[in-house]
Amino acid sequence: MKILILNGPNLNMLGIREPEHYGRETYDDLVKKIESYCREKGVDCECYQSNHEGCLVDKIQQAYGNTDGIVINPGAYTHTSVAILDAVKAVSIPTVEVHISKVEDREDFRQISYIRLAAKKTITGLGTDGYLRAIDCLMEEK
Ligand code: DQA
Repeated sequence: MKILILNGPNLNMLGIREPEHYGRETYDDLVKKIESYCREKGVDCECYQSNHEGCLVDKIQQAYGNTDGIVINPGAYTHTSVAILDAVKAVSIPTVEVHISKVEDREDFRQISYIRLAAKKTITGLGTDGYLRAIDCLMEEK
C-alpha cells in the first residue's frame, strides 16, 4: 500500500510557529514519526510539503494511478482552495483531512473546509498523532 502525506503552507515551520496550537515537534520530527509508523505497518509512504497551492495540486495529480491513499493537511488552503478540492476529486484517491490543532474551537474563518467535501474523514486536535490515525483509517479501507 502506498500513501502520500501532503502538508501545505507554513507546516514546514512546525516547532517554531504558534506552539500553543501546533506543539513543539518540528516538520522533520513529523516526517520521521510518519516514516517510522509506516515502516512498522508495512506501508510505503511519501511525505511532501509545499507553501504553494499549484505544487500541491501537481503532487495530487501525479498520485493518480500509483497511490492508494492521501493524508492531507492543506494548512490555510483548507479554508480557501477549491483547486485542491478539485484535484482530490479528479484523482478519486481515498483522502483523509488532518489538522494538528482543534480548528473547530478556533476563528470563524477556520470553520470552512473545502477539502472536507472530498475527504472520507477529518481528524482534528490530536496534534501530530492525527497523521497516524489518518494512516490507520486509510489502511482499514484497504
Ligand atoms: C492547520 C489549521 C489551519 O487553520 C492553519 O491555517 C494551518 C494548520 C492545523 O493543522 O491545525 O496552517 O491546518
